[in-house]
Amino acid sequence: MIKLEDYKAPEFKIASVHLEFALDPEATIVTSTLKMVSDSSTLTLDGDELVLLSVELNGKPVDHVVTPTSLTLNVPFTPFTLVIKTQINPTANTALSGLYRSNGTYCTQCEAEGFRRITFFPDRPDVLTTYTVKITGKEPLLLSNGNQLEHGVWHDPHPKPSYLFALVAGDLGVVKDTFTTMSGRVVALEIYVEHGKEPLCAYAMDSLKRSMRWDETAFGREYDLDVFMIVAVSDFNMGAMENKGLNIFNDKYVLANPETATDADYANIEGIIAHEYFHNWTGNRITCRDWFQLSLKEGLTVFRDQEFSSDMRSRPVKRIEDVRLLKSAQFAEDAGPLSHPVRPRQYAEINNFYTATVYNKGAEVIRMMKVLIGEKAFADGLDLYFKRHDGQATTIELFVKCFEEVAERSLDIHSRWYEQAGTPLVRVSTEYEGGVLILHLEQVLREGHLPQSLPLRVGFLSPNGEELFEETITLDQFKGRFIFEDFKDEPILSLNRGFSAAVNIDYGRSDQTLAFLATHDSDDYNRRQAVETYALKVLTKGADAAPFIALYGKLIEESPRDPAFYAHALTLPSEEDIAREIGANINPDAIKQTRNTLVVALAKAHAERASALFHTLQTGAFSPDAASAGKRSLRIALLRLMVIEGFDASEIYMNADNLTERFGALACVVHHGNVATRDKLMADFQARFEDNANVFDKYLSLTGMKASVLEVKTMLQGAVFTKFNPNRYRALVGVFAMSNPTQFHTKAGYDFLCEELLRVDKINPQVSARVANAFRSYKSMEEPRKLAAHEALLALSKHELSNDLKDIITRMLA
Ligand code: TRP
Ligand code: ZN
Repeated sequence: MIKLEDYKAPEFKIASVHLEFALDPEATIVTSTLKMVSDSSTLTLDGDELVLLSVELNGKPVDHVVTPTSLTLNVPFTPFTLVIKTQINPTANTALSGLYRSNGTYCTQCEAEGFRRITFFPDRPDVLTTYTVKITGKEPLLLSNGNQLEHGVWHDPHPKPSYLFALVAGDLGVVKDTFTTMSGRVVALEIYVEHGKEPLCAYAMDSLKRSMRWDETAFGREYDLDVFMIVAVSDFNMGAMENKGLNIFNDKYVLANPETATDADYANIEGIIAHEYFHNWTGNRITCRDWFQLSLKEGLTVFRDQEFSSDMRSRPVKRIEDVRLLKSAQFAEDAGPLSHPVRPRQYAEINNFYTATVYNKGAEVIRMMKVLIGEKAFADGLDLYFKRHDGQATTIELFVKCFEEVAERSLDIHSRWYEQAGTPLVRVSTEYEGGVLILHLEQVLREGHLPQSLPLRVGFLSPNGEELFEETITLDQFKGRFIFEDFKDEPILSLNRGFSAAVNIDYGRSDQTLAFLATHDSDDYNRRQAVETYALKVLTKGADAAPFIALYGKLIEESPRDPAFYAHALTLPSEEDIAREIGANINPDAIKQTRNTLVVALAKAHAERASALFHTLQTGAFSPDAASAGKRSLRIALLRLMVIEGFDASEIYMNADNLTERFGALACVVHHGNVATRDKLMADFQARFEDNANVFDKYLSLTGMKASVLEVKTMLQGAVFTKFNPNRYRALVGVFAMSNPTQFHTKAGYDFLCEELLRVDKINPQVSARVANAFRSYKSMEEPRKLAAHEALLALSKHELSNDLKDIITRMLA
C-alpha cells in the first residue's frame, strides 16, 4: 500500500536523459543514459518486466542488484553518468502499458507507471528532466516528444516526468495544418492516422485549433513548442493521453464523418481533443508531485474542457449532460465500496484511481470554489498558479493556496471536499409567515466528517411564475438558517440552480410544485431537474402518474423552442438512476417493469403529438454543430414514443444520411420495436459496418444492453473477438455489465463476468479492473442477488490476479 503520509522528495536529480531505441517487434533494445547527481550513496530505480542487459557507471560495469521491480546500485556523491541497457518485447505487451504495438504501429502509454516497462528509471511524477531520444528502425515515421532534430532524433526542451514520455513508430498517413499563437508563432499541427483515414480527421483538427485559441482567450495560455502532434491508435486503454507535444488517442476519439460518427461522438472528439491539449498547461507545464495529487491535473483539466465545450455549444445543455454523468458515474461510485476522496490517502494500484471521483468530482470542487470566491478572484488565482508553479511538480494544497491568497480568505472548509468521500445530503425545510421566508438547511455527511462548504444558488419565483430574484448562499456549517423578506406571497424556491453544489437534496416537494418548476423555472438546469425529480417520484414513490403524463405532453409541445434542452427533459431516468434513488434492496426486474409501464403510458398519450412534431422538425444537410445535433436528439426522443406505439422506423433508419439518425432509429427499434424489425435492422447494421470497428462497437453495445449471458458468450466466440481489443471488449462485455441490469444482476451474470475477468486479467489488467467496477453496486442489491455476487467475487479473489484486479476485488469485498 502506498501512503500519502510516506511521501519523501527524491534525493537525486537527473540533469538530462538520452534514450536510444533500436526497434524490433520482439526484441527492442533501449539504451538510457542518465546524467545525475545524488545526495544518497544508493540509487534505486523502478522496473517492470524488463530484461536487463547491462549497467555502466561512468563508463564501467558496476555491481547492482536487480529484482522484478527494481534496480539498485551504489553511486558517488559527485555527478555521474549511468548507462542502462534493457530489452523489451513490444509484441507481447498486451497490457498496453509501456511500449507496445497496435496494428503494427509502435506506440507507448506511460501514465501512470508504464515508463518502468521501457527502462529502469525513477518512475515518479516529481522527477523532471529533459529528454533527447534517438529511434532507429525501418519505419518511415519515427516520433517522440518535442522538436525533431533529424529523422528519428528528438529533443524536448521542457523538463518533464517520465509519464509524459511518448514514442510512435510506423507507417501512417498525416493531416497537416498550422496554428498561429497569440504572440505570432506558427505551430505545425499534425494528426497521424492509418493510411486512407486522413479524410476522417477534419473535425479533430478543427477542434484542436479551436482549443488552442480558446486556451489563449479564456486562460491566457499559449502553446510552447513548434509542433503539436496527435496519433490515433486502435488499441488503447483509455480515451487519450497528453504526452508532451505528442498526444496519443484512442482512434474512436479522432475519426469522424457523418456516416460513421454520431453527434455524441463529435462532442466527445471535441471535448477530448480539448482535454488533452489543455493538459499542456494543467498537467505538463505544472505537473503532480505524487499520484495522490492526480486531481490537481485531472479535476482542473476536466473543469477546463467542460468550460470549453460550454462556450462552443449550449452552456445549460452541457451542464445538464455533465451533471447526468456526474450522478451516474461519480455518485454511484461514491455510494459503494469503491468510494474514495478526490485526494486519496492511500492506494494499492494507482491505475484504479483514474476515476469519476478524481476527474468529475474534482472538477466540481473547482467549480464550487469559483462560485465561492467569485469570477475575478478565480481568474487571478489561476494566473498566480500558472506563474508560481510553472515548471514544478506540485500539490492540491498549493493550488488552493493561490486562490486563498488572491481572495484573502481561508479555503480550509472548502478543502474538505478533497479529503472527505461521499456525497453530501442537504435536508431542506422552509417556514413562511407575513412576507418572511426562513430557509432551514442541514448537511448530512458521513460519521465523523466535518462540514463542507456548499454554495447554493437559490432562485425565488412568485406563485404565478415570475422570477423575483436569485441569491447565492453558502452552507458551511452542519445547519444554517437563511432569512428572506418582503414577499407579497409565499415564493417558490428553485434550489441549487445549475447544480452549483454537488450534493443530493432532500426537499419534500409536492407534485404540483415540481410541475410548476418544470414549466416556469428560468434556470434550465433546474427546470430539467424538476422533471427528473418528478419522474423519480412517480417511479419510486408511487406518485400519481396522470399529471406527470400531462406535464410530459406540455414539454413535447414546447420542445421546438430549444430542441437540445427538451431532448434531455423528455429523457426519463435510466434504470440505473432509479436504482440509485431506491438505494437498497434493489430488484432490477421490478425497476425495469415500472419504468416500462410509465414509458408505455407516455407513448400512448403522446405518440400522435410526437409524430406530428417529428415530421415538421427537419434537420437539413448534416452539420455537427450543437443546434443541428439538438434537433436530431429531439427527433430521436420523439421517435422513441412513436416506435413504442407501433410506428415502423425502418424507413427512418434506411433513409438516414447520418449515423446519429440511423443509429438512433436502430436503438429505438432494438429497445421498443417488434422482433422482426429489430432483427432485420440489426442485420443490416451489421452488414453495413462489419469492416468499421468503431461503428461496429455500437452494434456490440446495443447487443450488450439487451442480451442474455448466453447471447453475450456466443458473440464473444465470433471473429471480431479473436484478437483482444479494449474498445471491442468494453462495447460488449463492459456494456453488458454496466447497462444491462436485469441480465447482469443474476447468479449467471455474476459468474459469467467473474469468469471473463479472470480470463481478460491475463491479457490486460487495466481493462479487467475497469470492467470489474460493474460490481460496485452489488451491496445494494436484494437477496439472493447480493449473496450470489459476493460468492462470485470471493471465488475470483482466490485466484492469482493482477495487482489492478486484486485491488478492486479486495476493496469490493471489504
Ligand atoms: N491522463 C489521461 C487523461 O485523462 C488518462 C490516461 C490515458 C490514462 N491513458 C491512461 C490513465 C492509462 C491511466 C492509464 O487525459
Ligand atoms: Zn486528463
